[in-house]
Amino acid sequence: MCGIVGAVGINNPREYAINGLKMLEYRGYDSAGIGFLTDKINIFKDIGSPSRLDEILPTTFNTELIIGHTRWATHGTPSKINSHPHLSCNRKITLVHNGVIDNANELRTFLLSQGYTFYSDTDTEVVVNLLEYFYLSSKDMHTSLKLLEDQLEGSYALAIINEDYPDSLFMLKKGSPLMIGKGKGFNLIASDASPMAKYTNEFIDLEDYDFGYISKNEIRIFDKNNNLVNRKSIIKDAESITHDLKGYPHYMLKEIEEIDEVVKRTISIYHEDNEYQFDNKLLKELKEADHVMFLGCGTSYHASLVGGRILENCNNIPTTEYIASEWAYHPVMPSKKPFAILISQSGETADLIHCLKIIKEKNVPTLLITNTAGSTLSRGCTYTVLLHAGVEVSVASTKAYAAQVALLALLSGALNKNDKMVIDLKATIDVINSIKNNLKKHIEKIAEEIKDNEHVFFLGRSFDYFLSLEASLKLKEISYIHSEAYPGGELKHGPIALISEGLPVIIFITDPNTANSMRSNVEEVKSRGAKVYIVSTKSLSKKGDALVVDDYAYFLSGVAISSIAFYLAYYVSLKKGYNVDKPRNLAKSVTVE
Ligand code: AGP
Repeated sequence: MCGIVGAVGINNPREYAINGLKMLEYRGYDSAGIGFLTDKINIFKDIGSPSRLDEILPTTFNTELIIGHTRWATHGTPSKINSHPHLSCNRKITLVHNGVIDNANELRTFLLSQGYTFYSDTDTEVVVNLLEYFYLSSKDMHTSLKLLEDQLEGSYALAIINEDYPDSLFMLKKGSPLMIGKGKGFNLIASDASPMAKYTNEFIDLEDYDFGYISKNEIRIFDKNNNLVNRKSIIKDAESITHDLKGYPHYMLKEIEEIDEVVKRTISIYHEDNEYQFDNKLLKELKEADHVMFLGCGTSYHASLVGGRILENCNNIPTTEYIASEWAYHPVMPSKKPFAILISQSGETADLIHCLKIIKEKNVPTLLITNTAGSTLSRGCTYTVLLHAGVEVSVASTKAYAAQVALLALLSGALNKNDKMVIDLKATIDVINSIKNNLKKHIEKIAEEIKDNEHVFFLGRSFDYFLSLEASLKLKEISYIHSEAYPGGELKHGPIALISEGLPVIIFITDPNTANSMRSNVEEVKSRGAKVYIVSTKSLSKKGDALVVDDYAYFLSGVAISSIAFYLAYYVSLKKGYNVDKPRNLAKSVTVE
Protein backbone atom coordinates (compact mmCIF):
# COMPACT_ATOMS: atom_id res chain seq x y z
CA MET A 1 0.00 0.00 0.00
CA CYS A 2 2.01 3.06 1.07
CA GLY A 3 5.56 3.32 -0.24
CA ILE A 4 8.63 4.67 1.53
CA VAL A 5 11.99 5.91 0.30
CA GLY A 6 14.84 7.44 2.25
CA ALA A 7 18.50 8.30 1.67
CA VAL A 8 21.58 9.57 3.48
CA GLY A 9 24.45 11.12 1.57
CA ILE A 10 23.23 10.38 -1.95
CA ASN A 11 24.39 12.65 -4.79
CA ASN A 12 21.04 13.65 -6.21
CA PRO A 13 18.52 13.20 -3.39
CA ARG A 14 15.72 14.93 -5.31
CA GLU A 15 16.01 12.56 -8.25
CA TYR A 16 16.32 9.49 -6.02
CA ALA A 17 13.27 10.39 -3.97
CA ILE A 18 10.95 11.39 -6.83
CA ASN A 19 11.94 8.55 -9.16
CA GLY A 20 11.93 6.12 -6.27
CA LEU A 21 8.39 7.08 -5.35
CA LYS A 22 7.35 6.70 -8.98
CA MET A 23 8.71 3.14 -8.85
CA LEU A 24 6.53 2.53 -5.80
CA GLU A 25 3.36 3.94 -7.42
CA TYR A 26 2.29 0.40 -8.26
CA ARG A 27 1.73 -0.23 -4.56
CA GLY A 28 -1.21 2.20 -4.72
CA TYR A 29 -1.30 5.91 -3.84
CA ASP A 30 -3.54 8.92 -3.49
CA SER A 31 -0.94 11.46 -2.39
CA ALA A 32 2.80 11.83 -2.14
CA GLY A 33 5.34 13.84 -0.18
CA ILE A 34 9.00 14.45 0.48
CA GLY A 35 10.82 15.79 3.54
CA PHE A 36 14.48 16.77 3.75
CA LEU A 37 16.83 18.45 6.17
CA THR A 38 18.73 21.68 5.47
CA ASP A 39 19.13 24.03 8.41
CA LYS A 40 15.55 22.97 9.19
CA ILE A 41 13.07 20.31 8.14
CA ASN A 42 11.42 21.05 4.76
CA ILE A 43 8.23 19.31 3.68
CA PHE A 44 6.52 19.25 0.29
CA LYS A 45 3.40 17.17 -0.20
CA ASP A 46 0.16 17.09 -2.11
CA ILE A 47 -2.61 14.82 -3.30
CA GLY A 48 -1.99 13.02 -6.59
CA SER A 49 0.95 11.11 -7.94
CA PRO A 50 4.66 11.54 -7.18
CA SER A 51 4.95 13.46 -10.48
CA ARG A 52 3.25 16.33 -8.66
CA LEU A 53 6.35 16.56 -6.45
CA ASP A 54 8.39 17.50 -9.51
CA GLU A 55 6.25 20.64 -9.74
CA ILE A 56 6.22 21.66 -6.08
CA LEU A 57 9.78 20.84 -4.98
CA PRO A 58 12.57 23.41 -5.50
CA THR A 59 14.57 22.39 -8.57
CA THR A 60 17.77 22.22 -6.56
CA PHE A 61 18.54 21.88 -2.90
CA ASN A 62 21.33 20.48 -0.79
CA THR A 63 20.62 17.87 1.78
CA GLU A 64 22.21 14.84 3.32
CA LEU A 65 18.91 13.44 4.56
CA ILE A 66 15.73 12.86 2.60
CA ILE A 67 12.55 10.81 3.06
CA GLY A 68 9.59 10.31 0.73
CA HIS A 69 6.21 8.64 0.77
CA THR A 70 3.31 7.56 -1.39
CA ARG A 71 0.14 7.35 0.70
CA TRP A 72 -2.84 5.05 0.28
CA ALA A 73 -5.39 6.45 2.71
CA THR A 74 -6.36 4.40 5.74
CA HIS A 75 -6.89 6.95 8.55
CA GLY A 76 -8.41 10.10 7.06
CA THR A 77 -9.35 11.02 3.52
CA PRO A 78 -6.77 11.57 0.78
CA SER A 79 -5.74 15.20 1.33
CA LYS A 80 -2.64 17.35 1.52
CA ILE A 81 -2.89 17.63 5.31
CA ASN A 82 -3.18 13.86 5.76
CA SER A 83 -0.33 13.03 3.39
CA HIS A 84 3.16 12.28 4.66
CA PRO A 85 5.73 13.27 5.90
CA HIS A 86 4.19 14.38 9.20
CA LEU A 87 5.91 16.79 11.56
CA SER A 88 6.00 16.65 15.33
CA CYS A 89 4.55 19.60 17.23
CA ASN A 90 7.93 21.26 17.80
CA ARG A 91 8.71 20.73 14.06
CA LYS A 92 12.02 19.04 14.87
CA ILE A 93 11.10 15.46 13.96
CA THR A 94 9.45 14.25 10.78
CA LEU A 95 8.59 10.79 9.54
CA VAL A 96 6.86 8.70 6.89
CA HIS A 97 4.90 5.59 7.76
CA ASN A 98 3.53 2.50 6.04
CA GLY A 99 1.07 0.48 8.10
CA VAL A 100 -1.74 1.03 10.55
CA ILE A 101 -1.44 1.86 14.26
CA ASP A 102 -4.23 -0.01 16.00
CA ASN A 103 -4.03 1.91 19.28
CA ALA A 104 -3.73 5.37 17.67
CA ASN A 105 -6.86 6.67 19.40
CA GLU A 106 -5.63 5.83 22.90
CA LEU A 107 -2.22 7.30 22.16
CA ARG A 108 -3.78 10.44 20.71
CA THR A 109 -5.87 10.87 23.88
CA PHE A 110 -2.75 10.54 25.98
CA LEU A 111 -0.85 13.07 23.88
CA LEU A 112 -3.77 15.52 23.95
CA SER A 113 -3.63 15.32 27.75
CA GLN A 114 0.04 16.27 27.48
CA GLY A 115 -0.79 19.41 25.49
CA TYR A 116 -0.17 18.09 21.98
CA THR A 117 -2.18 19.44 19.04
CA PHE A 118 -3.10 17.43 15.95
CA TYR A 119 -3.60 18.85 12.50
CA SER A 120 -4.43 15.71 10.51
CA ASP A 121 -6.69 12.68 10.93
CA THR A 122 -3.83 10.24 10.64
CA ASP A 123 -2.42 7.62 12.97
CA THR A 124 1.03 8.71 11.70
CA GLU A 125 0.82 12.12 13.34
CA VAL A 126 0.27 10.30 16.62
CA VAL A 127 3.48 8.34 16.03
CA VAL A 128 5.64 11.37 15.31
CA ASN A 129 4.35 13.22 18.36
CA LEU A 130 4.79 10.23 20.63
CA LEU A 131 8.37 9.99 19.40
CA GLU A 132 8.87 13.68 20.15
CA TYR A 133 7.36 13.14 23.61
CA PHE A 134 9.87 10.35 24.39
CA TYR A 135 12.76 12.27 22.83
CA LEU A 136 12.12 15.41 24.86
CA SER A 137 12.58 13.49 28.07
CA SER A 138 15.31 11.00 27.03
CA LYS A 139 17.28 13.29 24.69
CA ASP A 140 18.36 10.10 22.95
CA MET A 141 16.95 8.62 19.75
CA HIS A 142 17.92 5.04 20.50
CA THR A 143 16.00 5.09 23.80
CA SER A 144 13.09 6.95 22.21
CA LEU A 145 12.75 4.47 19.35
CA LYS A 146 12.69 1.56 21.76
CA LEU A 147 10.06 3.30 23.92
CA LEU A 148 8.04 4.05 20.80
CA GLU A 149 8.22 0.44 19.66
CA ASP A 150 7.00 -0.70 23.08
CA GLN A 151 3.92 1.52 22.80
CA LEU A 152 2.86 1.01 19.19
CA GLU A 153 0.34 -1.69 18.34
CA GLY A 154 -0.30 -2.59 14.71
CA SER A 155 2.00 -2.43 11.73
CA TYR A 156 4.60 0.09 10.79
CA ALA A 157 7.62 0.78 8.65
CA LEU A 158 8.97 4.19 9.63
CA ALA A 159 11.68 6.42 8.17
CA ILE A 160 12.52 9.28 10.50
CA ILE A 161 14.53 12.51 10.46
CA ASN A 162 15.41 14.27 13.71
CA GLU A 163 16.99 17.74 13.33
CA ASP A 164 19.39 16.97 16.19
CA TYR A 165 20.89 14.09 14.16
CA PRO A 166 21.76 15.64 10.78
CA ASP A 167 23.77 12.56 9.73
CA SER A 168 21.32 9.79 10.56
CA LEU A 169 18.14 8.45 9.07
CA PHE A 170 16.27 6.44 11.68
CA MET A 171 14.03 3.47 11.00
CA LEU A 172 11.72 1.13 12.82
CA LYS A 173 9.79 -1.81 11.41
CA LYS A 174 7.06 -4.24 12.33
CA GLY A 175 4.63 -5.94 9.96
CA SER A 176 5.27 -3.64 6.96
CA PRO A 177 8.21 -4.11 4.63
CA LEU A 178 11.39 -2.01 4.82
CA MET A 179 14.73 -2.64 3.13
CA ILE A 180 18.14 -1.06 3.28
CA GLY A 181 20.21 -0.53 0.12
CA LYS A 182 23.94 -0.52 0.90
CA GLY A 183 25.92 2.08 -0.99
CA LYS A 184 29.48 3.41 -0.97
CA GLY A 185 29.46 6.71 0.88
CA PHE A 186 25.67 6.68 1.03
CA ASN A 187 22.91 4.40 2.24
CA LEU A 188 19.27 4.02 1.25
CA ILE A 189 16.02 2.64 2.53
CA ALA A 190 12.79 1.82 0.71
CA SER A 191 9.70 -0.36 0.88
CA ASP A 192 11.15 -2.65 -1.76
CA ALA A 193 14.30 -2.85 -3.82
CA SER A 194 12.99 -1.19 -6.98
CA PRO A 195 13.76 2.48 -6.07
CA MET A 196 17.28 1.52 -5.01
CA ALA A 197 18.18 -0.77 -7.93
CA LYS A 198 19.81 2.06 -9.90
CA TYR A 199 22.23 2.76 -7.04
CA THR A 200 23.13 -0.61 -5.53
CA ASN A 201 22.61 -4.34 -5.83
CA GLU A 202 23.17 -5.12 -2.15
CA PHE A 203 20.16 -5.11 0.14
CA ILE A 204 19.21 -5.92 3.70
CA ASP A 205 15.67 -7.00 4.57
CA LEU A 206 14.78 -5.63 7.97
CA GLU A 207 12.98 -7.99 10.31
CA ASP A 208 10.05 -7.22 12.55
CA TYR A 209 10.98 -5.12 15.60
CA ASP A 210 14.28 -4.07 13.99
CA PHE A 211 15.18 -0.46 14.63
CA GLY A 212 18.24 1.71 14.23
CA TYR A 213 19.69 4.11 11.72
CA ILE A 214 21.67 4.48 8.54
CA SER A 215 24.29 7.18 7.99
CA LYS A 216 26.61 7.73 5.01
CA ASN A 217 29.05 5.03 6.06
CA GLU A 218 27.27 3.11 8.75
CA ILE A 219 24.28 0.85 9.26
CA ARG A 220 23.23 0.10 12.83
CA ILE A 221 20.37 -2.33 13.39
CA PHE A 222 19.05 -3.42 16.78
CA ASP A 223 16.67 -6.31 17.28
CA LYS A 224 13.65 -6.80 19.52
CA ASN A 225 15.89 -7.43 22.52
CA ASN A 226 17.87 -4.27 21.89
CA ASN A 227 20.92 -6.22 20.70
CA LEU A 228 23.04 -4.86 17.87
CA VAL A 229 22.62 -7.33 14.99
CA ASN A 230 24.39 -7.97 11.73
CA ARG A 231 21.62 -8.75 9.24
CA LYS A 232 22.84 -10.65 6.18
CA SER A 233 22.75 -8.72 2.93
CA ILE A 234 21.46 -10.18 -0.31
CA ILE A 235 22.52 -9.41 -3.87
CA LYS A 236 19.77 -8.81 -6.41
CA ASP A 237 20.36 -8.00 -10.05
CA ALA A 238 18.73 -4.83 -11.37
CA GLU A 239 16.92 -6.70 -14.17
CA SER A 240 14.94 -8.71 -11.64
CA ILE A 241 13.73 -5.71 -9.67
CA THR A 242 13.36 -2.75 -11.98
CA HIS A 243 10.29 -1.94 -13.99
CA ASP A 244 10.51 -1.45 -17.73
CA LEU A 245 7.60 -1.32 -20.15
CA LYS A 246 9.82 -2.70 -22.94
CA GLY A 247 7.77 -0.88 -25.57
CA TYR A 248 4.36 -1.98 -24.31
CA PRO A 249 1.74 0.71 -23.60
CA HIS A 250 0.86 -0.84 -20.24
CA TYR A 251 2.40 -3.21 -17.75
CA MET A 252 -0.75 -5.31 -17.74
CA LEU A 253 -0.47 -6.05 -21.45
CA LYS A 254 3.25 -6.75 -21.13
CA GLU A 255 2.61 -9.09 -18.23
CA ILE A 256 -0.18 -10.98 -20.00
CA GLU A 257 2.12 -11.45 -22.98
CA GLU A 258 4.83 -12.85 -20.72
CA ILE A 259 2.64 -15.73 -19.52
CA ASP A 260 4.04 -18.26 -22.02
CA GLU A 261 7.60 -17.45 -20.94
CA VAL A 262 6.65 -17.60 -17.28
CA VAL A 263 5.09 -21.04 -17.70
CA LYS A 264 8.15 -22.27 -19.60
CA ARG A 265 10.44 -20.91 -16.87
CA THR A 266 8.35 -22.46 -14.11
CA ILE A 267 8.54 -25.86 -15.77
CA SER A 268 12.26 -25.62 -16.41
CA ILE A 269 13.03 -24.58 -12.83
CA TYR A 270 10.80 -27.09 -11.06
CA HIS A 271 11.27 -30.00 -13.46
CA GLU A 272 14.92 -29.91 -14.44
CA ASP A 273 16.81 -32.84 -15.95
CA ASN A 274 13.60 -34.85 -16.03
CA GLU A 275 13.20 -34.63 -12.29
CA TYR A 276 10.95 -32.58 -10.09
CA GLN A 277 12.94 -30.03 -8.14
CA PHE A 278 11.14 -29.55 -4.84
CA ASP A 279 12.63 -29.85 -1.38
CA ASN A 280 12.23 -33.52 -0.37
CA LYS A 281 11.47 -32.54 3.21
CA LEU A 282 8.61 -30.39 1.95
CA LEU A 283 7.21 -33.25 -0.14
CA LYS A 284 7.52 -35.63 2.79
CA GLU A 285 5.69 -33.28 5.16
CA LEU A 286 2.98 -32.71 2.58
CA LYS A 287 2.51 -36.44 2.09
CA GLU A 288 2.32 -37.03 5.83
CA ALA A 289 -0.44 -34.43 6.23
CA ASP A 290 -4.02 -35.65 6.50
CA HIS A 291 -5.36 -32.43 4.94
CA VAL A 292 -3.94 -29.51 2.98
CA MET A 293 -5.40 -26.13 3.78
CA PHE A 294 -4.89 -23.27 1.34
CA LEU A 295 -5.02 -19.62 2.29
CA GLY A 296 -5.00 -16.66 -0.07
CA CYS A 297 -6.77 -13.44 -1.05
CA GLY A 298 -8.23 -12.28 -4.35
CA THR A 299 -6.45 -13.76 -7.34
CA SER A 300 -4.18 -15.87 -5.15
CA TYR A 301 -7.26 -17.40 -3.52
CA HIS A 302 -8.60 -18.21 -6.99
CA ALA A 303 -5.33 -19.95 -7.82
CA SER A 304 -5.66 -21.95 -4.61
CA LEU A 305 -9.08 -23.23 -5.71
CA VAL A 306 -7.47 -24.68 -8.83
CA GLY A 307 -4.41 -25.99 -7.00
CA GLY A 308 -6.50 -27.58 -4.28
CA ARG A 309 -8.75 -29.38 -6.76
CA ILE A 310 -5.73 -30.67 -8.72
CA LEU A 311 -4.07 -31.86 -5.53
CA GLU A 312 -7.22 -33.70 -4.46
CA ASN A 313 -7.72 -35.28 -7.86
CA CYS A 314 -4.13 -36.37 -8.37
CA ASN A 315 -3.05 -37.24 -4.88
CA ASN A 316 -6.16 -38.11 -2.98
CA ILE A 317 -5.31 -35.59 -0.28
CA PRO A 318 -8.36 -33.72 1.03
CA THR A 319 -7.98 -29.96 0.71
CA THR A 320 -9.86 -26.88 1.83
CA GLU A 321 -9.33 -23.44 0.37
CA TYR A 322 -9.92 -20.47 2.62
CA ILE A 323 -10.15 -16.74 1.97
CA ALA A 324 -7.47 -15.54 4.39
CA SER A 325 -9.42 -12.62 5.86
CA GLU A 326 -12.32 -14.97 6.66
CA TRP A 327 -10.26 -17.78 8.14
CA ALA A 328 -8.35 -15.35 10.37
CA TYR A 329 -11.53 -14.69 12.33
CA HIS A 330 -12.71 -18.28 12.40
CA PRO A 331 -9.45 -20.17 12.50
CA VAL A 332 -10.62 -23.77 12.65
CA MET A 333 -8.18 -26.47 11.63
CA PRO A 334 -9.70 -28.83 9.08
CA SER A 335 -8.09 -31.94 10.58
CA LYS A 336 -5.64 -33.29 13.16
CA LYS A 337 -2.50 -33.10 11.04
CA PRO A 338 -2.95 -30.42 8.39
CA PHE A 339 -0.36 -28.72 6.22
CA ALA A 340 -0.95 -25.08 5.25
CA ILE A 341 -0.13 -23.63 1.82
CA LEU A 342 -0.21 -19.84 1.71
CA ILE A 343 -0.31 -18.19 -1.69
CA SER A 344 0.71 -14.57 -2.12
CA GLN A 345 2.24 -12.87 -5.12
CA SER A 346 3.62 -10.05 -2.96
CA GLY A 347 4.38 -12.03 0.17
CA GLU A 348 3.27 -8.98 2.16
CA THR A 349 -0.51 -9.37 2.39
CA ALA A 350 -1.66 -8.37 5.88
CA ASP A 351 -4.57 -10.83 6.00
CA LEU A 352 -2.17 -13.70 5.38
CA ILE A 353 0.31 -12.40 7.92
CA HIS A 354 -2.54 -12.52 10.42
CA CYS A 355 -3.33 -16.14 9.44
CA LEU A 356 0.31 -17.14 9.63
CA LYS A 357 0.57 -15.96 13.24
CA ILE A 358 -2.36 -18.19 14.19
CA ILE A 359 -1.08 -21.18 12.22
CA LYS A 360 2.36 -20.93 13.80
CA GLU A 361 0.83 -20.99 17.27
CA LYS A 362 -0.78 -24.30 16.28
CA ASN A 363 2.55 -25.71 15.06
CA VAL A 364 1.26 -26.48 11.60
CA PRO A 365 3.95 -26.65 8.89
CA THR A 366 3.59 -23.96 6.22
CA LEU A 367 4.58 -23.45 2.61
CA LEU A 368 4.50 -20.01 1.01
CA ILE A 369 4.14 -19.78 -2.75
CA THR A 370 5.24 -16.27 -3.66
CA ASN A 371 6.82 -14.11 -6.30
CA THR A 372 8.82 -12.16 -3.73
CA ALA A 373 11.97 -13.65 -2.22
CA GLY A 374 12.68 -12.54 1.33
CA SER A 375 9.16 -11.17 1.85
CA THR A 376 7.59 -10.90 5.30
CA LEU A 377 5.54 -14.06 4.78
CA SER A 378 8.51 -15.94 3.45
CA ARG A 379 10.47 -15.21 6.59
CA GLY A 380 7.67 -16.66 8.69
CA CYS A 381 6.85 -19.82 6.73
CA THR A 382 8.53 -23.21 7.11
CA TYR A 383 9.08 -23.47 3.35
CA THR A 384 9.02 -20.97 0.49
CA VAL A 385 8.69 -21.88 -3.17
CA LEU A 386 9.32 -18.98 -5.53
CA LEU A 387 7.23 -18.23 -8.58
CA HIS A 388 9.93 -16.66 -10.78
CA ALA A 389 7.22 -14.78 -12.69
CA GLY A 390 9.37 -11.63 -12.75
CA VAL A 391 8.22 -8.36 -11.21
CA GLU A 392 4.49 -7.84 -11.65
CA VAL A 393 3.82 -4.10 -11.73
CA SER A 394 0.22 -3.86 -12.86
CA VAL A 395 -2.14 -3.92 -9.88
CA ALA A 396 -4.22 -6.53 -11.69
CA SER A 397 -2.39 -9.80 -11.25
CA THR A 398 -2.05 -11.82 -14.45
CA LYS A 399 1.21 -13.67 -15.05
CA ALA A 400 1.54 -14.35 -11.32
CA TYR A 401 -1.84 -16.14 -11.37
CA ALA A 402 -0.80 -18.35 -14.29
CA ALA A 403 2.50 -19.05 -12.52
CA GLN A 404 0.71 -19.93 -9.27
CA VAL A 405 -1.52 -22.44 -11.03
CA ALA A 406 1.41 -23.90 -12.99
CA LEU A 407 3.47 -24.26 -9.85
CA LEU A 408 0.65 -25.89 -7.89
CA ALA A 409 0.15 -28.34 -10.74
CA LEU A 410 3.86 -29.18 -10.69
CA LEU A 411 3.79 -29.64 -6.94
CA SER A 412 0.94 -32.12 -7.39
CA GLY A 413 2.90 -33.90 -10.08
CA ALA A 414 5.95 -34.07 -7.83
CA LEU A 415 3.93 -35.51 -4.97
CA ASN A 416 2.79 -38.51 -6.99
CA LYS A 417 5.86 -38.58 -9.23
CA ASN A 418 3.71 -38.07 -12.27
CA ASP A 419 5.59 -36.73 -15.32
CA LYS A 420 2.38 -36.50 -17.33
CA MET A 421 1.72 -33.24 -15.47
CA VAL A 422 4.80 -31.75 -17.10
CA ILE A 423 3.70 -32.91 -20.55
CA ASP A 424 0.25 -31.41 -19.98
CA LEU A 425 1.71 -28.15 -18.78
CA LYS A 426 4.11 -27.92 -21.71
CA ALA A 427 1.17 -28.37 -24.05
CA THR A 428 -0.55 -25.27 -22.64
CA ILE A 429 2.22 -23.08 -24.02
CA ASP A 430 0.99 -23.53 -27.60
CA VAL A 431 -2.53 -22.65 -26.52
CA ILE A 432 -1.30 -19.51 -24.75
CA ASN A 433 0.63 -18.49 -27.86
CA SER A 434 -2.23 -19.14 -30.21
CA ILE A 435 -4.46 -16.88 -28.08
CA LYS A 436 -1.74 -14.20 -28.24
CA ASN A 437 -1.29 -14.57 -31.99
CA ASN A 438 -4.79 -15.36 -33.26
CA LEU A 439 -7.49 -14.47 -30.78
CA LYS A 440 -6.54 -11.06 -29.42
CA LYS A 441 -8.48 -9.19 -32.12
CA HIS A 442 -11.59 -11.28 -31.42
CA ILE A 443 -11.31 -10.64 -27.69
CA GLU A 444 -10.92 -6.93 -28.37
CA LYS A 445 -14.14 -7.05 -30.41
CA ILE A 446 -16.00 -8.68 -27.53
CA ALA A 447 -14.59 -6.00 -25.24
CA GLU A 448 -15.99 -3.33 -27.56
CA GLU A 449 -19.41 -5.01 -27.46
CA ILE A 450 -19.62 -5.37 -23.67
CA LYS A 451 -17.85 -2.21 -22.51
CA ASP A 452 -20.97 -0.08 -22.06
CA ASN A 453 -22.89 -2.64 -20.04
CA GLU A 454 -23.45 -2.10 -16.35
CA HIS A 455 -23.37 -5.81 -15.55
CA VAL A 456 -21.59 -8.87 -16.93
CA PHE A 457 -22.01 -12.52 -15.93
CA PHE A 458 -19.43 -15.29 -16.09
CA LEU A 459 -20.44 -18.95 -15.88
CA GLY A 460 -18.52 -22.20 -15.69
CA ARG A 461 -18.36 -25.41 -13.70
CA SER A 462 -15.47 -26.87 -11.73
CA PHE A 463 -12.19 -25.59 -13.20
CA ASP A 464 -14.15 -23.37 -15.59
CA TYR A 465 -15.95 -21.89 -12.60
CA PHE A 466 -12.64 -21.14 -10.88
CA LEU A 467 -11.52 -19.34 -14.03
CA SER A 468 -14.85 -17.48 -14.17
CA LEU A 469 -14.20 -16.15 -10.68
CA GLU A 470 -10.83 -14.82 -11.77
CA ALA A 471 -12.21 -13.38 -15.02
CA SER A 472 -14.95 -11.60 -13.10
CA LEU A 473 -12.57 -10.19 -10.50
CA LYS A 474 -10.26 -8.91 -13.22
CA LEU A 475 -13.08 -7.22 -15.12
CA LYS A 476 -14.52 -5.43 -12.09
CA GLU A 477 -11.07 -4.50 -10.84
CA ILE A 478 -9.97 -2.49 -13.86
CA SER A 479 -13.13 -1.68 -15.83
CA TYR A 480 -15.40 -0.92 -12.84
CA ILE A 481 -18.18 -2.96 -14.44
CA HIS A 482 -20.24 -4.94 -11.97
CA SER A 483 -19.70 -8.59 -12.74
CA GLU A 484 -20.70 -11.88 -11.16
CA ALA A 485 -19.25 -15.35 -11.53
CA TYR A 486 -21.43 -18.36 -10.83
CA PRO A 487 -21.10 -22.11 -11.13
CA GLY A 488 -23.48 -23.11 -13.95
CA GLY A 489 -25.30 -25.42 -11.56
CA GLU A 490 -26.20 -22.56 -9.25
CA LEU A 491 -27.90 -20.54 -11.96
CA LYS A 492 -31.37 -21.95 -11.36
CA HIS A 493 -30.99 -21.50 -7.60
CA GLY A 494 -31.28 -17.73 -7.82
CA PRO A 495 -29.04 -15.78 -10.15
CA ILE A 496 -31.09 -16.63 -13.23
CA ALA A 497 -33.52 -13.97 -11.97
CA LEU A 498 -30.93 -11.40 -13.03
CA ILE A 499 -30.57 -12.62 -16.60
CA SER A 500 -32.22 -10.06 -18.83
CA GLU A 501 -32.34 -8.94 -22.45
CA GLY A 502 -28.87 -8.07 -23.78
CA LEU A 503 -26.94 -8.98 -20.59
CA PRO A 504 -23.48 -10.22 -21.62
CA VAL A 505 -22.86 -13.73 -20.26
CA ILE A 506 -19.41 -15.17 -20.83
CA ILE A 507 -19.39 -18.94 -20.54
CA PHE A 508 -16.35 -21.21 -20.30
CA ILE A 509 -16.83 -24.73 -21.69
CA THR A 510 -13.46 -26.46 -21.60
CA ASP A 511 -14.09 -29.32 -19.19
CA PRO A 512 -15.45 -32.52 -20.79
CA ASN A 513 -16.97 -33.57 -17.45
CA THR A 514 -19.26 -30.57 -17.32
CA ALA A 515 -19.63 -29.53 -20.98
CA ASN A 516 -23.12 -31.00 -21.45
CA SER A 517 -24.56 -29.37 -18.37
CA MET A 518 -22.96 -26.10 -19.42
CA ARG A 519 -24.65 -26.32 -22.82
CA SER A 520 -28.00 -26.53 -20.97
CA ASN A 521 -27.07 -23.39 -19.07
CA VAL A 522 -26.31 -21.71 -22.40
CA GLU A 523 -29.87 -22.42 -23.55
CA GLU A 524 -31.32 -21.19 -20.27
CA VAL A 525 -29.63 -17.80 -20.44
CA LYS A 526 -30.10 -17.43 -24.20
CA SER A 527 -33.82 -18.00 -23.90
CA ARG A 528 -33.95 -15.11 -21.43
CA GLY A 529 -32.33 -12.78 -23.93
CA ALA A 530 -28.72 -12.85 -22.70
CA LYS A 531 -25.96 -12.04 -25.18
CA VAL A 532 -23.84 -15.16 -24.83
CA TYR A 533 -20.10 -15.44 -25.54
CA ILE A 534 -18.82 -19.01 -25.30
CA VAL A 535 -15.17 -19.86 -24.82
CA SER A 536 -14.62 -23.53 -25.65
CA THR A 537 -12.00 -26.06 -26.59
CA LYS A 538 -12.06 -27.58 -30.08
CA SER A 539 -13.40 -30.97 -29.09
CA LEU A 540 -16.21 -29.41 -27.04
CA SER A 541 -16.96 -26.51 -29.38
CA LYS A 542 -20.19 -25.86 -31.24
CA LYS A 543 -21.00 -23.58 -34.12
CA GLY A 544 -21.34 -20.01 -32.96
CA ASP A 545 -18.90 -20.23 -30.05
CA ALA A 546 -17.10 -16.91 -29.71
CA LEU A 547 -13.59 -18.16 -28.97
CA VAL A 548 -12.35 -21.67 -29.66
CA VAL A 549 -8.92 -22.85 -28.53
CA ASP A 550 -7.01 -26.08 -29.06
CA ASP A 551 -7.61 -28.87 -26.55
CA TYR A 552 -5.47 -29.07 -23.42
CA ALA A 553 -5.67 -30.93 -20.09
CA TYR A 554 -8.95 -29.48 -18.82
CA PHE A 555 -7.72 -28.89 -15.26
CA LEU A 556 -5.11 -26.44 -16.57
CA SER A 557 -7.46 -23.70 -17.85
CA GLY A 558 -5.89 -21.34 -15.30
CA VAL A 559 -2.66 -21.64 -17.25
CA ALA A 560 -3.84 -22.30 -20.81
CA ILE A 561 -6.63 -19.77 -21.24
CA SER A 562 -6.49 -17.32 -18.33
CA SER A 563 -5.03 -14.84 -20.82
CA ILE A 564 -8.48 -14.69 -22.50
CA ALA A 565 -9.93 -13.37 -19.24
CA PHE A 566 -7.02 -10.97 -18.80
CA TYR A 567 -7.10 -9.58 -22.36
CA LEU A 568 -10.84 -9.08 -22.07
CA ALA A 569 -10.54 -7.02 -18.88
CA TYR A 570 -7.58 -5.14 -20.35
CA TYR A 571 -9.37 -4.12 -23.55
CA VAL A 572 -12.58 -3.13 -21.76
CA SER A 573 -10.61 -0.91 -19.35
CA LEU A 574 -8.58 0.57 -22.20
CA LYS A 575 -11.67 1.34 -24.26
CA LYS A 576 -13.31 3.01 -21.30
CA GLY A 577 -10.25 5.22 -20.93
CA TYR A 578 -9.25 4.03 -17.48
CA ASN A 579 -5.79 3.77 -15.94
CA VAL A 580 -5.31 0.06 -16.65
CA ASP A 581 -2.27 -0.45 -14.45
CA LYS A 582 -3.41 1.63 -11.49
CA PRO A 583 -7.13 1.14 -11.00
CA ARG A 584 -8.94 3.37 -8.53
CA ASN A 585 -8.92 2.45 -4.84
CA LEU A 586 -6.62 -0.55 -5.34
CA ALA A 587 -3.08 -1.26 -4.20
CA LYS A 588 -0.67 -3.90 -5.40
CA SER A 589 0.37 -5.00 -1.93
CA VAL A 590 -2.46 -4.98 0.55
CA THR A 591 -0.41 -4.43 3.67
CA VAL A 592 -3.26 -3.42 5.97
CA GLU A 593 -6.22 -5.57 6.99
C1 AGP B 1 -5.30 -9.25 -8.25
O1 AGP B 1 -5.62 -8.80 -9.51
C2 AGP B 1 -5.66 -8.38 -7.18
N1 AGP B 1 -5.06 -7.11 -7.31
C3 AGP B 1 -5.73 -8.90 -5.77
O2 AGP B 1 -6.86 -9.69 -5.68
C4 AGP B 1 -4.53 -9.72 -5.22
O3 AGP B 1 -4.44 -10.93 -5.87
C5 AGP B 1 -4.73 -9.92 -3.70
O4 AGP B 1 -4.70 -8.68 -3.07
C6 AGP B 1 -3.70 -10.84 -3.10
O5 AGP B 1 -2.41 -10.34 -3.20
P1 AGP B 1 -1.14 -11.25 -2.97
O6 AGP B 1 -1.16 -12.33 -3.98
O7 AGP B 1 0.02 -10.32 -3.13
O8 AGP B 1 -1.26 -11.78 -1.57
